[in-house]
Amino acid sequence: MTSIDEPNVTAGQSELLRLLIGGWVSSSIGAAVDLGIADLLRAGPMDVDAIAAAAGVAPESLTRLLRMLRALGIITRDDADRYALSEVGALLRADHPQSMRNLVRLYQEQYFADAWNELVPALRVGEQPFTKAHGESVFDYLGSRPDALAVYGSGIAVGSMFVADLPTVYDFSGKCVVDVGGGDGTLLDVILSAVPDATGRLIERPAAVAAAADRLRGFIAQQRCEVLAGDFFDVLPAGGDVAVLCRILHNWDDDRARTILANCRAAMRPGSTLLIVERVVSDLRPTPVATAFDMHMFVMTSGRERTDEEYRTLLAASGFELVSIKGLPLEMSLVEAHAR
Ligand SMILES: C[S@@+](CC[C@H](N)C(=O)[O-])C[C@H]1O[C@@H](n2cnc3c(N)ncnc32)[C@H](O)[C@@H]1O
Repeated sequence: MTSIDEPNVTAGQSELLRLLIGGWVSSSIGAAVDLGIADLLRAGPMDVDAIAAAAGVAPESLTRLLRMLRALGIITRDDADRYALSEVGALLRADHPQSMRNLVRLYQEQYFADAWNELVPALRVGEQPFTKAHGESVFDYLGSRPDALAVYGSGIAVGSMFVADLPTVYDFSGKCVVDVGGGDGTLLDVILSAVPDATGRLIERPAAVAAAADRLRGFIAQQRCEVLAGDFFDVLPAGGDVAVLCRILHNWDDDRARTILANCRAAMRPGSTLLIVERVVSDLRPTPVATAFDMHMFVMTSGRERTDEEYRTLLAASGFELVSIKGLPLEMSLVEAHAR
């Protein structure tokens, strides 16, 4: 029973409620993007009727959405009841230089929600949630759905903002960098732009290779870069000085990860460098972002975020020695290993 000296609501209850509304927060931010509100407000503050007319929604319910977005610090309202984007909200605009809009769109995808909805049933029967929901793996799913693949590729590219720091934590001067599973080419674009005497090679699945070829066309024209369709479960072309696996191994279980590493190793010379860019999760001091991505990997793939020891073991079994782990923004890490 609550005594008169005790609060009726504990700090724990209050905190748990704050955590539980996370999904609604995410959906409301998604609505601001879907309705185009962030892009509408680019030109300056607008009142609710003008936003409602442009977005094609009822002013009364829109006022409630805008109030929640104000509470979240995404939207502001001035004395004349006109709404504007805050600094955080501006990141939802399509034309913002650091726009995160495409990541919002990716996280709102129905196939993500369908996979998360299978979490408990899949845990009970020991199945992989995405496969249980969709009957195939996420990459097979995307391979036959060009629209979803485009949203995935552009969202993943936004999520790679940490790559801007890579040239400051590793010296790529004069190196040929092989980006294995290089997505839309953001990482190579950053490295080749920052390091004038570096060259690059990107290997990506045939269904997804066009975006990288497009992004890197300037470097391809200068013959500083080549983009190849390939499969990292198959033989990889030999050569290069530094192989990069950025957000690749976390998509795969240990067996498949060892196959990818062994294929990289077979294409590399002894002593050459492998860079793994992932969130290294700590079992001792787990953090919310890294563990959330670990659970997301559980839901979406057969993979996982790994601890430093798990990387050391995986690498050792595949002909590499782990040399160092350095921090990058957003809880990402750069794991450096050398081919034995
Ligand atoms: C999470 S994304 C990471 C992309 C990029 N490395 C980055 O960090 O932005 C995983 C990538 O692996 C690619 N991929 C999946 N299976 C592959 C395979 N068998 N061979 C080559 N690439 C593959 C996907 O197309 C996707 O671009």
